[in-house]
Amino acid sequence: MLVIRDVPAPEPSSGEVLVRVVASALNRADLLQRLGKYPAPPGAPANIPGIEFAGEVVEVGSGVPPSRIGQRVFGIAGGGAHSEFLVAHERAVAVIPECLSWIEAAAVPEAFVTAHDALWVQAALRPCERVLIHAVGSGVGLAAVQLVRAIGAVPFGTARTQEKIDRARELGLEDGLAVGGDLSPLAPAVEAWTAHHGVDVVLDLAGGPYVGASLAVLALRGRLLLVGSVAGRRAEIDLGLAISRRVRMTGTVLRARPLEEKISTIRAFESEVVPLLATGAVVPVIDSVYDLDSIVEAHERLESNATFGKVVIRVASDASNTSLE
Ligand SMILES: NC(=O)c1ccc[n+]([C@@H]2O[C@H](COP(=O)([O-])OP(=O)(O)OC[C@H]3O[C@@H](n4cnc5c(N)ncnc54)[C@H](OP(=O)(O)O)[C@@H]3O)[C@@H](O)[C@H]2O)c1
Repeated sequence: MLVIRDVPAPEPSSGEVLVRVVASALNRADLLQRLGKYPAPPGAPANIPGIEFAGEVVEVGSGVPPSRIGQRVFGIAGGGAHSEFLVAHERAVAVIPECLSWIEAAAVPEAFVTAHDALWVQAALRPCERVLIHAVGSGVGLAAVQLVRAIGAVPFGTARTQEKIDRARELGLEDGLAVGGDLSPLAPAVEAWTAHHGVDVVLDLAGGPYVGASLAVLALRGRLLLVGSVAGRRAEIDLGLAISRRVRMTGTVLRARPLEEKISTIRAFESEVVPLLATGAVVPVIDSVYDLDSIVEAHERLESNATFGKVVIRVASDASNTSLE
């Protein structure tokens, strides 16, 4: 059950900043946490969901320069982002480019950090490689499409409606397939898209039967990134294919990483993705915006699976101001 109540603001420890959260966004993790299926990791507030934020530094802990007060920052959190204040390690936040409003900034961290870390860092994506993104109309999926293009590779995708495929094309998707419940048209589609080469990387945001279907369309030495399991936690795979094609399968999660890893993930995002956001080469995709008071409706919207991009939560009254106001 979701209720809004007053609790004491956290205090920044050494090396931390206190952030006044201006806007946040919603994630599957929040839905699962509400259902009691995904508890917050140790150190995160147990009963305040929210794993990404955009806000203003209002206080610093010892060892953090006071000049950081007033800085606009965004980042990911173990929890506690659907609240007015949170604490974060000063190195685990990135500075928001001036061109992004608070609402736009809040739509960035989970989607772009996850896609960047999976594709650019872990899969070591190279120019001209072909990438298949399942659930391409999701927040992570649409960030992935743009980051694949930004590195000079070619994105393909699946979704369960043609409308999401068509809309994703406007963000750079080369081609896509509306799959419904039947994944058998995927192999001939990938053959046609890639002239029988197969895809070099799959970003699997769906899981379940998509895992086996992905393996079947991977090129030699392909990389399969397992990121989400909305379509199921179990998969049947052909080990002969995996072995003979020398496939690399990598599972990944951001939330449970130790602080040092989160810091290096955010630092890589800040140096490689934030400049692209600053020039508009990649853009946050916003499905809808809800006030924190309407958090129940926001959860319902994400649960509907009708979203295209991010569901943003307006936490503070100045959230709709642009960065220049
Ligand atoms: N490992 C990590 O660190 C990490 C971080 C962020 C997100 N994730 C995961 O990555 C995935 C994408 O996250 P997101 O926040 O971008 O998602 P999102 O915006 O909530 O979109 C998820 C989409 O998945 C599709 N979907 C839902 N149920 C499905 C099913 N049974 N079969 C096939 N497709 C289904 C729906 O689109 P269609 O209508 O097009 O099917 C839905 O809109 C989620 O699974 C999420 O849990 C993982």
